[in-house]
Amino acid sequence: MRIISGAKPSGKLHIGNYLGSIKNWVKLQEDPKNECWFFIADYHSITEDYDPKQKSKEIFDMALDLLALGLGPKKSVLFQQSRINEHANLGWIFNTIVRMSELERMTQYKDKALVQKQNVNVGLFDYPALMAADILIYKAEAVPVGEDQLQHLELTRDIARRFNEKFGKIFPEPKSILTETPRIMSLTDPLKKMSKSGGEKSYIALSDSPEIIREKIKIAVSDAGGKDKRDGGDNLLSIFNAFTQTKEEKTEYLSYKKDHEAGKLRYAGLKPRLAELIADYFADYRKKHIEFSKNPDYVKKVLAEGAEKALAIAEKTLKEVKQKIGLII
Ligand code: TRP
Repeated sequence: MRIISGAKPSGKLHIGNYLGSIKNWVKLQEDPKNECWFFIADYHSITEDYDPKQKSKEIFDMALDLLALGLGPKKSVLFQQSRINEHANLGWIFNTIVRMSELERMTQYKDKALVQKQNVNVGLFDYPALMAADILIYKAEAVPVGEDQLQHLELTRDIARRFNEKFGKIFPEPKSILTETPRIMSLTDPLKKMSKSGGEKSYIALSDSPEIIREKIKIAVSDAGGKDKRDGGDNLLSIFNAFTQTKEEKTEYLSYKKDHEAGKLRYAGLKPRLAELIADYFADYRKKHIEFSKNPDYVKKVLAEGAEKALAIAEKTLKEVKQKIGLII
């Protein structure tokens, strides 16, 4: 099965990003039946407000993060989106297939347009057409994403179907793959999704030291759930569950959960243990991160080789598309 996914480079990865989709990338590449392609969605990232002086560092750091998590050359292809011109090229063709009304329905667009009122650029609106191109140019069959991307995936399938019906079948209709972890909420405001915009204390970055993790978890809000919403305690427990690896840890989780349900969970016990669990989980990542950051040429080489492989397929698909729509004379 061919699998593709991308993530925007926007500084540090946090555990919300990781548990939402990247954890699945690592898992999927372990299955030899899968052929995995993962990319840094830098063209998507420039639809948000950004500092051009920081961008290349963000892209590099993202590559470093992915490598330190164990993604990479032996098991999957890593590349940078903007190096493959064919993505944007196919995105243009999809612009003539997707409807304004479809893009207007996208909740990510509506949410972001409210946040960046001064910068509601056309790219932000057109984001899903490029995303569909990212996926379909490799004729991918499955896409591991966070649940906030499901609507874009649905639109990708609509675009594929419409193209196939109109011009002849070339695209599969890719399915989404979700992690089993529920949405991870902010540590300081458990009614909001974990995000960097919530401030340093609201998220745990993969690169946070064990001391910082302990500090952030210690001050994490444990109640404050609204009606029908999961509260901060539920959030801490689902983070705990997500990072359990051994049978003993699972049992430990279940006993905390039971206590929580009975209303007698002691956070003074849970919190330091949770911090330790997270810190241990990323110990190997932190070690590899240091190693790879000493070797920037290697990181760049991985991306260069990835681009070469991606280009070979992207070129072929774009040619096929042009042929189908009658542009080749
Ligand atoms: N929109 C995705 C996100 O914000 C990133 C992305 C861009 C992507 N292109 C993609 C994900 C193609 C999967 C496939 O997380």
